[in-house]
Parts: sequence; C-alpha cells; structure tokens
Amino acid sequence: MLANTRRLPRPSFLRGASLIAACAAALLLSPYASADEKGKEIYGPCAACHGEFGQGGKKGEYPRIAGQQAKYMESQLKAFQKRIRVNIPMVPYTEERELSHEDMKIVSDYVSGIELPTAIPVFKDTDDALTRLTAMEKVMIVPREPGDVEAGKALYQQSCAACHGKTAKGRGMFPRLVGQYSQYLKRQVDLYLKGDRPHDEETTQGILNTLKPEDIQNILAYVTALQEEVNKQ
Ligand code: HEC
Ligand code: HEC
Repeated sequence: MLANTRRLPRPSFLRGASLIAACAAALLLSPYASADEKGKEIYGPCAACHGEFGQGGKKGEYPRIAGQQAKYMESQLKAFQKRIRVNIPMVPYTEERELSHEDMKIVSDYVSGIELPTAIPVFKDTDDALTRLTAMEKVMIVPREPGDVEAGKALYQQSCAACHGKTAKGRGMFPRLVGQYSQYLKRQVDLYLKGDRPHDEETTQGILNTLKPEDIQNILAYVTALQEEVNKQ
C-alpha cells in the first residue's frame, strides 16, 4: 500500500479530488445502478403478463405499467397484497414472501422509469399481422376511442385534471391515464361504479358516480386523442 502511494506521481490535492469523486460515485451511482438491476430482476415474473417492457397486452386485459407513476403502483401492489383491490391473477405474485414492501418500491421505480417508444414503427411489406401487433403493443399509443373529443376535453379538464393532471400523465398517487388501454380503463370505471374499488374517496360515491356512460366514453375519446400531443412533448 505504502509503496504504491509513493509511486503515485500526482499532487496530493488531485488524489484528494479523485478520492472524493470515487466516494461520490460509490455513494450516488452504484445504489442507483444496482436498484435498477434489482428492479429488473424482481420484474422478471411480472413480464409474463405485463410484457417485457411493461407494455401490457391482450388489449388491456393486462394493463400497461411502463411509465406509470411509481408511488401509485406501489400503493396498488400493497392494495393487491391486502386484497383491498381484488386481483386474482396477481395474488400469488404479491404475497408477502414473494414481494416485500421494499421490493414493491424497487420494482415500481423500475417500471415507472421504462420509456416506451412513441413513434409508430415502419413496417416491411413482408411483416405479418402478429409482428405488427407485437411491435405496436410496445409503442405508447393505444387505438383511438370513438366519442365526442371536445365534450370529453371539457369534462376531463373540469372534473379529472386536478388529480390526473392536465395531460393525464398522473402525479404521485394519482395514476397516469394517457397511453393506457381503454378496455382496461373502462373495466376500472365499472369496478369503481360497482363499489368494488375505491376511487377518489374512501366511499363508493365519488366523482365517477356523477357521470353518465356517454360522459365516460367522451373522456376516453379525449384521453386517446391527447396521447399524440403528450408524446410530442
Ligand atoms: C398472471 C398475470 C399477472 C402477473 C404475473 C402480474 N400481474 Fe400485475 N396485473 C395483472 C392484471 C390482470 C391486472 C389488472 C387487474 C384489474 O383489471 O383490476 C394487473 C394490475 C397491475 C397493476 C395496477 C395497474 C394500474 O394501473 O392500476 C400493477 C401496478 C401491477 N399489476 C404490477 C405488477 C407487478 C410489479 C408484477 C410482478 C411482481 C405483476 N403485476 C405481475 C396481471 C398480472
Ligand atoms: C380527487 C382526485 C381525483 C379526481 C378528481 C379523479 N380521480 Fe381518478 N383516480 C384518483 C385516484 C386516487 C385513483 C387511484 C385509486 C386507487 O387507489 O385505486 C384514481 C384512479 C382512476 C382510474 C384507474 C386507473 C388505473 O390505472 O387503474 C381511472 C380510470 C380514473 N381514475 C378515472 C378518472 C376520471 C375519468 C376522472 C374525472 C371524471 C377522475 N378519475 C377524477 C383520483 C382522482
């Protein structure tokens, strides 16, 4: 060690600086890198349903979770574990011995950080339907929903934006809606209306209960129209 130090021809202030740099790297960089690796590892079994990149699938039977708000996802994993939010397919994956609270946070951060491409891929004439479908699933775009986009916009901005954000990207505990499969969102609205999942209040009588089915449809039309605008940002 000593011989080594003596052989170093650098002035001591530089040695100090590189020591600080090394410490900073060890303190700041490595936990991030390893948390990401750990996140990817924990995510392994989740990919069977949510897709390799969290893109979801089967037209929303499995929701898209890439880019979803991390805090929200963590809260949902806890809700699944406690059976507050009933999710039969996911139960075995959220059992305490499978997924600790710490792992829930790590995997949520990991999935939240995945950025799906936003541009529609260019296909070759020889690409078959399955190739196209699989590639399209990985793009942060879902099919446009029918409905009155302008009416949906007015309603959304008035009744939903305060929590879900002006561009529906969500924030903290409020989930992102833009880029999510419409079939999945519709199913959630039905669950809320039936009182099977609590929405904005602990009670079952939240904002969604004040809307007509066509209002919901128009909001979904607006949210799927919004995605192109959001993707350009
Ligand atoms: C066997 C299939 C399956 C596996 C494996 C699975 N999930 Fe899910 N997950 C689902 C389904 C289905 C839903 C939607 C349930 C519903 O419609 O309410 C869901 C919902 C979610 C949601 C809520 C999304 C939202 O927008 O509210 C999160 C977060 C989630 N899963 C994370 C995970 C993580 C993390 C793992 C791995 C530890 C995992 N899932 C493993 C099927 C699965
Ligand atoms: C007061 C805040 C608030 C307002 C306003 C609000 N939401 Fe929500 N929304 C939430 C919260 C919180 C959740 C997550 C609830 C949970 O933990 O299950 C949620 C979840 C959702 C989900 C499920 C998302 C998912 O990934 O599973 C949908 C769909 C939704 N809201 C639609 C709407 C619509 C449409 C409006 C406007 C008519 C609206 N929300 C207004 C707070 C709000």
